[in-house]
Amino acid sequence: MKNSNLLNVILTRTSIRDFDKNRKVPEEILKQILLAGIRAPSAGNIQPRTFIVVKDDTVKELLYELCENQTFMKDASVWIVVCLDLHRHLKAAKLTGVEYDFTGILPYTFGVLDAALALENMVIAADAFGLGSVIIGSVIEHPQRVKEILKLPENCLALSILCVGYPLKKPAIRGKWGYDVIVCEDRYRDIEAKDVLDYWREFMFNDLKRSGKELAREEFERFLTERSYGRSYSRHYTEAFVKSTNEKLMEFLKAQGFLKE
Ligand SMILES: Cc1cc2nc3c(=O)[nH]c(=O)nc-3n(C[C@H](O)[C@H](O)[C@H](O)COP(=O)(O)O)c2cc1C
Repeated sequence: MKNSNLLNVILTRTSIRDFDKNRKVPEEILKQILLAGIRAPSAGNIQPRTFIVVKDDTVKELLYELCENQTFMKDASVWIVVCLDLHRHLKAAKLTGVEYDFTGILPYTFGVLDAALALENMVIAADAFGLGSVIIGSVIEHPQRVKEILKLPENCLALSILCVGYPLKKPAIRGKWGYDVIVCEDRYRDIEAKDVLDYWREFMFNDLKRSGKELAREEFERFLTERSYGRSYSRHYTEAFVKSTNEKLMEFLKAQGFLKE
């Protein structure tokens, strides 16, 4: 394969949360990363996305507090807020005499896809430069505050912050659901109830091994029961939290002009 280096970057990438705070990412490299984001595919080439590079310490501090004080963020040299942004597109249309309603779930969904593709391009580009990155999604839980902090216009929503920096150490890659689970042919192949648990066991086992925790069989089974698939997620995403965040986000999407009443 011609670009085997690039494939290797993709297959060995893992999120980095241990940055060298004394090493800055040179502006020229940052620019290349942002250009990689700009070059991502886009539905209709509308490109409903904006990247805000945060340099101001006050702005950083305010965002940091919203992101549950994830301390490693402060060591990352670069913060890029990736926004789903239809504002520019709608403004340009209006200025050229076109009055059309490009709001609702369709442009919203395209926009999320567009922004995510740009985000991943930047993740890969950063890795290719020997940097590391991690996506911080918490901003989506506080859309109104983030809008105020970043002075976002209508039809603009901050989706994530990409923190980039030089890694102090790179952990082993995380376990994922296996190839046979994720990939189907021709039609959706539902997974048997018994297989779901076996596959989950397998990937949890690999994930633990990666963090240096090789548990004896009995211990591993106990660990699995304590951290059963639903339990660990439902602890974080409690019913009350999901409900209130959904409501907050829905309100915001309406107020921002993405969705109608
Ligand atoms: C939308 C999104 C939000 C995320 N938010 C956070 C976050 O707030 N904090 C964090 O440490 N990692 C966050 N991550 C990184 C994931 O935890 C990470 O991708 C996942 O554990 C898989 O690990 P890997 O990236 O090393 O494969 C986020 C990733 C995505 C895609």
